[in-house]
Parts: sequence; C-alpha cells; structure tokens
Amino acid sequence: MQPSRAREAGKAKSTPKTIVLGVTGSIAAYKAAELTSSLVKRGYSVHVVMTRAATKFITPLTLQTISRNPVHFEMFEPAKDWEIEHISLAQRADLVLVAPATANFICKLASGLADELLAATILATKAPVLIAPAMNAGMYENPIFQHQMKFLQSFGYFFVEPDTGRLACGASGRGRLADIPKIIHALEQVIYPANDFEKDLTGRRVLITAGPTREPLDPVRFLSNYSSGKMGFALAEAARKRGAEVILVSGPTNLEPPDAVELIAVQTAEEMFNAVVERFPGVDVVIKAAAVADFRPRVKAESKIKKQETLVLELERTPDILAYLGKHKKHQILVGFAAETERTLKNAEEKLSRKNLDLVVANDLTEEGAGFEGDTNIVTFLYPGGAAVSLPKMNKKELAGLILDEVAKLLTAKRDHFRN
Ligand code: CTP
Repeated sequence: MQPSRAREAGKAKSTPKTIVLGVTGSIAAYKAAELTSSLVKRGYSVHVVMTRAATKFITPLTLQTISRNPVHFEMFEPAKDWEIEHISLAQRADLVLVAPATANFICKLASGLADELLAATILATKAPVLIAPAMNAGMYENPIFQHQMKFLQSFGYFFVEPDTGRLACGASGRGRLADIPKIIHALEQVIYPANDFEKDLTGRRVLITAGPTREPLDPVRFLSNYSSGKMGFALAEAARKRGAEVILVSGPTNLEPPDAVELIAVQTAEEMFNAVVERFPGVDVVIKAAAVADFRPRVKAESKIKKQETLVLELERTPDILAYLGKHKKHQILVGFAAETERTLKNAEEKLSRKNLDLVVANDLTEEGAGFEGDTNIVTFLYPGGAAVSLPKMNKKELAGLILDEVAKLLTAKRDHFRN
C-alpha cells in the first residue's frame, strides 16, 4: 500500500530528499522549469527524467541547468546503460513526481508498460509516485481516462487534481496543470507524513461526529442512512493517541467506543446539533464525519402508522450543523466530509466555501472501496483556494492519520499566524 511507502520516504527528514521529476509531452512542460527551480530552492535534490515528447517542448539543457543534475531521457543511449539508469533512479528516489503528466502517459502507467525510461523508472520504484495531470478538459473528463486514473489510485498512486481555467487549446474547463505551490504542497504532504505516535495534538480539544442520525416517523420506524461510524471512530481513536482530548458525538452504531474518549450518544440531527453547538466554543477542532440526515418527517406519529394503500410523508429540513459552525467559528478549525455520487469535486468545492471550512474530505460513493460501510475509502482533500490532493485507496484508520496530519498542520499555521 502506497501510504506506507510514503511513510518509508518520511524517515530521514534531515538529509535532502531526492525527487525524480518526470516531465512528459504536454504544452505545460515549460512549467517544469519553474517547478524544478522551486524544488531546488526548497532544498530537494532534483533528477529530471524526460519523455521523448517532452524534449520537443522544453530542452533538457534548461532543466539540467536549473536542477544542477544531468537530465535523463531515452534517445540513443545504449541498452546496457539504460537498464542501469532506470533502476538506479528508481532506487534513489524518495518520491517520483510526474508534472505535467499527459493522458497518454497516465494510461501507459495504468497498463504497466515500460517502453521508455520514465515509465520504466516508475514501474521499478518503491517510492511514492505523485502525478500532476495536464490535458484538455474533454480528455480529462473522458470516462476511460478517469477509469485509468482511479485504477492507478487503487494501487497507491497519488494525484494532484488539475486546475479549472483557460486551457492551451482555447477551451475552458478542468485540465490545467495545478499551480506550482499546490504541487509542492501535495508533494510535501506525501513525503513528510507526521508520525502517528507523535503527541502533536496534546492540549487540543477535538470534537468529532460519527455515524448516521435517525429521524423518527412513528414509535417503531425512522429515516436513516448506511453510515457505519467507522471513519469517525477511527478519527476519535487516532486523535486521542496523538494527545488530544476527544469528544465523540455519535449517532447509533455497532462499534465499541475507543478508550478515554467522551462519548455523547445522540439519535436525531436535532440532538446532534444541540450536542455539538453547546460544546463548540470550548473546542479547537471539529471534524464532522457524521452522515447527518438532511430531512426528517414533519410530524412524528404518536402511535404506529397502520398499513394503508399509499402513504405520503411530508419531510422538512434538519439543521445543517456544519453550516452553522462555519457561520459562527472563531478560532476553530473545521473539517467536513462531502459524500457525493456525482460531480464530486465540484460539489465538494461548493460545500467548502458555503460552509466556510478549512478542509473538505470528498469521496465518490459510487467508487468501489469508497464510502459508508466498508473499511476503506478513496478520498480527495480540498483546501480553500482550490488546492486538491487525491489519495489512493486506504483503510479508514490510515486515512484518519492523514486527516489528523492536516489538522495538526492547520493548527500550527493558525498559531504561527497569531504569533506574527
Ligand atoms: N452536515 C451537517 N449537518 C447536516 C448535513 C450535513 O453537519 N444537516 C455535514 C456532514 O457531517 C458533512 C458535511 O456537512 O461533514 C457534508 O455533508 P453531505 O451530506 O455530503 O452534504 P450536505 O451538506 O448534506 O449537502 P447535500 O446533501 O446536498 O450533498
């Protein structure tokens, strides 16, 4: 699984990290110069590998000069050297970054092909691989391409989502290479995961919601959803291990509550709202992993509703807890989830801004291995300003660790902001 590869890469923070930067034949290849320069300035040792097509867009000499290392590309090198080259690069890399990555190159990786140096290096490496796609929006949205990208994610490849905007072909849409700071942010998230057992949340009060809510119809029936509570419980356990004081507000689940966590059991969205809002002023972080029902029956029947030919239910909205917190937040970090079945990123971005969040964890419930009941999830982190990092499929405990890494970074950034 790739995150453990990422952890491997995070071992020796003090020695300069080796980044193998793969550049493929996109018009955005010229941005590899600025990317290389930014990486070198941040102290990375950058070794560029170009595909043959990339050399048509930017010269190896440019990247060689900026990286201060020989640039590798397959041209007329003898087969023996080539063999050594891709293995040694694969072994030396702490991370392989492909930026820009064309649709053709990504699909080639998904097929396990190794017909040139960069693809062979990636096939051979045990280091984490981060891919920054750049292409026309139609190509990016193409279901075949999306399928290949998800296939790679399921094997542990990380992706930096491309930006939306005007593309080289003149059209507008998602496909523009993510901004350099976003790529570097994603790279550092992969390469420097915080140690799970660091007590980096000591002294912090973290409120986590979990599970479904139940909205009663009559004394024996309710409206609810398939949420198991596993994500929220994994977050609560991980936050406590990292030193936080944890309040877990949970709807009904079959899970054993983690040790040393304050559990507040609720049933309805209204009860969850009251429990969370009452404690909100005293906490530093709220992570809303609960799948809160959006509607409830307008009236709860006093006695069991009897069988009848048809039954029309009148539903009303429940309070949107997270939107309320977003409106009233002061010092708190707010993390929301966005469970979607279509247009995942667009809907999640909309929730991020509408609910005034610091981070949204978005997932597409239609993907295999993602969603409510299973032990795994496949998510994208979205940040204010548009940065998005897609993570590979991983179990919910591992994901809890990565979400808390982000929370710890956000808390540190907030503290530094107030100090300066
Ligand atoms: N949420 C909440 N209160 C609600 C509904 C949702 O606090 N009444 C929170 C969830 O816990 C989650 C986030 O808002 O962190 C997004 O939930 P989701 O169900 O994906 O979105 P909704 O805001 O309900 O929007 P929609 O159902 O239209 O997708």
